Amino acid sequence: MWEDFRWGVATAAYQVEGAAREGGRGPSIWDTFSHTPGRVQGGDTGDVAVDHYHRWREDVALMARLGVQAYRLSVSWPRVQPGGRGPLNPEGVAFYRELLDELLARGIAPVVTLYHWDLPQELEDAGGWPSRDTAYAFAEYARLMARELGDRVALWTTLNEPWCTAFLGYASGVHAPGRTEPAAALAAAHHLNLAHGLATRAIREELGEDTPVSISLNLHVTHPADPESGPDLEAVAQVDAVGNHVFLGPLMDGSYPTRLLRDTAHLTDWSFVQPGDLTVTRQRLDVLGLNYYSTQLVRRHHGEGGAPRADGHGAAAASPWVGVEDVEFLPVDPPHTAMGWNIRPGALEELLLALDNAYPDQPLMVTENGAAFDGDVPVDGRVHDTARVAYLHSHIAAVLRAREAGVDLRGYLAWSFVDNFEWAYGYSKRFGIVHVDLDSQQRTPKDSALWYRELVRTGRLPG
Ligand code: NOJ
Repeated sequence: MWEDFRWGVATAAYQVEGAAREGGRGPSIWDTFSHTPGRVQGGDTGDVAVDHYHRWREDVALMARLGVQAYRLSVSWPRVQPGGRGPLNPEGVAFYRELLDELLARGIAPVVTLYHWDLPQELEDAGGWPSRDTAYAFAEYARLMARELGDRVALWTTLNEPWCTAFLGYASGVHAPGRTEPAAALAAAHHLNLAHGLATRAIREELGEDTPVSISLNLHVTHPADPESGPDLEAVAQVDAVGNHVFLGPLMDGSYPTRLLRDTAHLTDWSFVQPGDLTVTRQRLDVLGLNYYSTQLVRRHHGEGGAPRADGHGAAAASPWVGVEDVEFLPVDPPHTAMGWNIRPGALEELLLALDNAYPDQPLMVTENGAAFDGDVPVDGRVHDTARVAYLHSHIAAVLRAREAGVDLRGYLAWSFVDNFEWAYGYSKRFGIVHVDLDSQQRTPKDSALWYRELVRTGRLPG
């Protein structure tokens, strides 16, 4: 059971492990994507990353020194099952077993994400997430992981941010596999929902009905440019459907929103939703995980042609906002992080209260929150990342307010434990509370890590 509130940190396999061709690991879509020129800033790849595959003991020891109570990691599917189907790779499985044992020995609860974006390349070659078979392959992989690692896992997470997998991977193409096929993105979204449901069933068949399972969603907090404008409020509702309820609907209510089906009817007839699917997708969630960073501002576009884009993807880029082409995304006032994302801690409280209101019996957890800022440079063994401390402080204050208001919160996990491979941005963006020198691989806790240690130790926001 996962009952108490825990403070923790998070990472993901491809972002930290490196050792991409070691220990019997197979290629994933992110290996292929990052090795394709022009896809990732600076031509960076996860080949070495922050070498966590070799330094995990040192990393866990550092987590223990920081006093964290939970560590959210992901299993690299191609490391444990190189082709995405068929036999397991014993060396890969052994790696996670040892890592989990070490966490447990140190009293750190392992939160294990089964899919944090590194699809085995062979499965993409066979169609990827737009293909229904991928959902069945995922469920089989989940079953095998439950068998192999089950007794060591405190909380399972099936998928991380399926919105990004479906819409950045298959519609805008800024993430692997880099496809720009809006209809395929919708099929991918459904197969991710199905994969979640099938995997949850498989895990509980293996380990018992009580086994705690979660999913981590990047729900979009969207505000209207003019709160008095009917068309702008309609734009918010449309974005809410394809940004949030495309997952919340099947997971929590067992249905897709009517608005989503209507808005996308010109792209697909949704025949990939088969009878019975929406019963499978709706499984008990012990924890609904939220990854929160920022907000967005929209209005109904009135001009000729498609809406101009102000979300950093550039005018020519394909949109991830499938079916809502007439919604305009507006720039949001400062302050911003180095990602260009606006800083709005109040919106995290707003999100938690809204979810609690919509799903009163559903325990929630913040499974990611954090920020990248420029200028994290160690001087005499210290990194004065004042802006990150302020970001964490204001967001955790929002979490505590929501808790006090009665929201059933089961934890907060800072993104990220260490600086790492920030997907299409490569190593140019640092989210860690621990600094990594990418040449020497030396770890230096930033001031934010020391601040976080104090928070965890006292259970109160440090002064
Ligand atoms: C969401 C993703 O889950 C994680 O992998 C990423 O690094 C952070 N957000 C920051 O963008």
